[in-house]
Amino acid sequence: MADTKILAVNAGNPEPEVIEQAAAVLRGGGLVGFPTETVYGLGADVLNLDAVRSVFRVKGRPGDNPLIVHVSGTRQLDDVVDEIPDKGKMLGEAFWPGPLTLVMKRTILVSDLVTAGLDTVAVRMPGHPVALALIRAFGEGIVGPSANLSGRPSPTTAQHVYDDLRGQVEIILDAGPTTIGLESTVVDVTTEPPMILRLGGLTKERIEEVIGQVEIDTAGSRNARSPGTRYRHYAPRAQVMLVRHEDREGFAALLQEQRQSGKIVGCIVHSPLLAKLETGDSFRVLPSSIEIFARHLFRTLRELDALRAEVIIVEGVPEQGLGATVMDRLRRASNG
Ligand code: TXA
Ligand code: MG
Repeated sequence: MADTKILAVNAGNPEPEVIEQAAAVLRGGGLVGFPTETVYGLGADVLNLDAVRSVFRVKGRPGDNPLIVHVSGTRQLDDVVDEIPDKGKMLGEAFWPGPLTLVMKRTILVSDLVTAGLDTVAVRMPGHPVALALIRAFGEGIVGPSANLSGRPSPTTAQHVYDDLRGQVEIILDAGPTTIGLESTVVDVTTEPPMILRLGGLTKERIEEVIGQVEIDTAGSRNARSPGTRYRHYAPRAQVMLVRHEDREGFAALLQEQRQSGKIVGCIVHSPLLAKLETGDSFRVLPSSIEIFARHLFRTLRELDALRAEVIIVEGVPEQGLGATVMDRLRRASNG
């Protein structure tokens, strides 16, 4: 394939001629890296099976991990979803376009390749003007897994997409860093109560304000509802080690132990207590605000990889709201 082109695009008011170039790539069965408010996605025509196959191939993604279909409006939604349960409607009305993915019964238009043979399909209407403009210009739904190599931290900049998928995508639309920095929340609304299959940028608390109690099943093992959660995920090349929030002694001891064993150690902390231990370039202090911490997390993991860290010690965050999603990602990155 030819070189990957990175095209700058205005995040709030995308230039139609730039969007049209990307839509033309999709029509030709090619792949496009595109920004959403969560992370960058790898776009392809949902109805073009060769294009969908190349999405799995270039990511190195296992075939039993289904893709999310991204839509910009109700016509595309009706094409892929057979039946929208009431609670699905309520969530869609409250949070779409936004960082929410709904799992619902699929129509026969959706290929087994996309859903990994499940009788459901995951659908999301992203809240980013560039993503919406791209889907509208293309006209049909597009599949949109995170545009990283399988297992790596999701990309929050166009450069991350380029780093992982150079030469494998025709165009990357660059609208700057994503604002949320974590993937969408995946909710299965075919069950009662609905089930959160992947924690994400929309908190459980906000979901429950709209539809009442939901359950969380992010293990993916019990019923294979969200196959993707079975794999190692969100992991930098370095080994991630997690210490408790504000655990100064534990953190200092681990840091010393790892350094003494000769490892290149990176650190990510946020509380003032641990920030005091700061020791140079591979020691990153992120803001304590959970929104900003989340926005910078994947990017910082990739940056410490680039500094050749072998171990990354991360200070945990309080486990509520977005903090629950951050802790989910950190545990997966550290392999439990
Ligand atoms: O924020 C996001 O959701 C990003 C942006 C680009 O939209 N996309 C994303 O896609 O994170 P991906 O492919 O990296 O993750 C999709 C998740 C996986 O955990 C997958 O197993 C789950 O959604 N999933 C997809 N279809 C499903 C289905 N029919 N039933 C249950 N889980 C499903
Ligand atoms: Mg992903």
